[in-house]
Amino acid sequence: MDAKQAFDAAASEYDAFRRQVIPCFDGFYGMALDLLPFAPDEAPRLLDVGAGTGLLAGLVARRWPAARLTLLDFSEEMLARARQRFAGAAVPVEIRVGDSSTADLEGPWDAVVSALSIHHLSDPAKRALYGRVLAALRPGGIFVNADNVEAEDPAVQGRDRGAWIAAMRAAGLPEADLQAGLLRTEVDVLAPLGRQLGWLRELGFVEVDCAYKWRHFAVFSGRRPVQ
Ligand SMILES: C[S@@+](CC[C@H](N)C(=O)[O-])C[C@H]1O[C@@H](n2cnc3c(N)ncnc32)[C@H](O)[C@@H]1O
Repeated sequence: MDAKQAFDAAASEYDAFRRQVIPCFDGFYGMALDLLPFAPDEAPRLLDVGAGTGLLAGLVARRWPAARLTLLDFSEEMLARARQRFAGAAVPVEIRVGDSSTADLEGPWDAVVSALSIHHLSDPAKRALYGRVLAALRPGGIFVNADNVEAEDPAVQGRDRGAWIAAMRAAGLPEADLQAGLLRTEVDVLAPLGRQLGWLRELGFVEVDCAYKWRHFAVFSGRRPVQ
């Protein structure tokens, strides 16, 4: 099973238990939003890479109702849920089916955001995507990636996974859904946070930082230089 097959298959239940699967939901998604430097009445142009059912994009739209959102994902099934989520949205949302490792990101975007998607790409594809994101941002634009990362130390990685599983159980996630979630981690290609921050700096991003981390859930960002 590859990532597309995994998410096509999971789409119908995907939204049901997000808070249980992501025990740090409020801090994790909340920081992704807090890093976006827009006033409430602004209408920024945002691209959501690996948008899935539109969970992150929906949170963006709630905080910035005039935002002009484009959602990119290679799972038609996940995007079908996103279409339902945004049916009747005040501002039309563009939905694009495409593979983030090859799709033309177009732009220029005020922000490119992504949640829990880029860790499905190989490391060279992640780095190449970061370079394409930089090129697609307007000068001064921001990239925010809320994603799963690998610990530098295997012992820490094991502890993080154990703590995550315990937190999902404590949150009442049904065992079948927990096992399905763990099965989906088999298509993960986690990379250490430090390596990814290094790629962003090497590529030319500025203000590179990790603003939030709980276990293997990290929110990191960088900006395209103004000039
Ligand atoms: C865990 S879901 C996250 C969805 C959403 N961003 C959220 O926060 O709920 C991961 C999404 O990334 C998408 N994805 C994974 N690899 C991708 C790729 N190479 N191109 C486009 N989408 C991809 C999957 O189809 C899935 O919808």
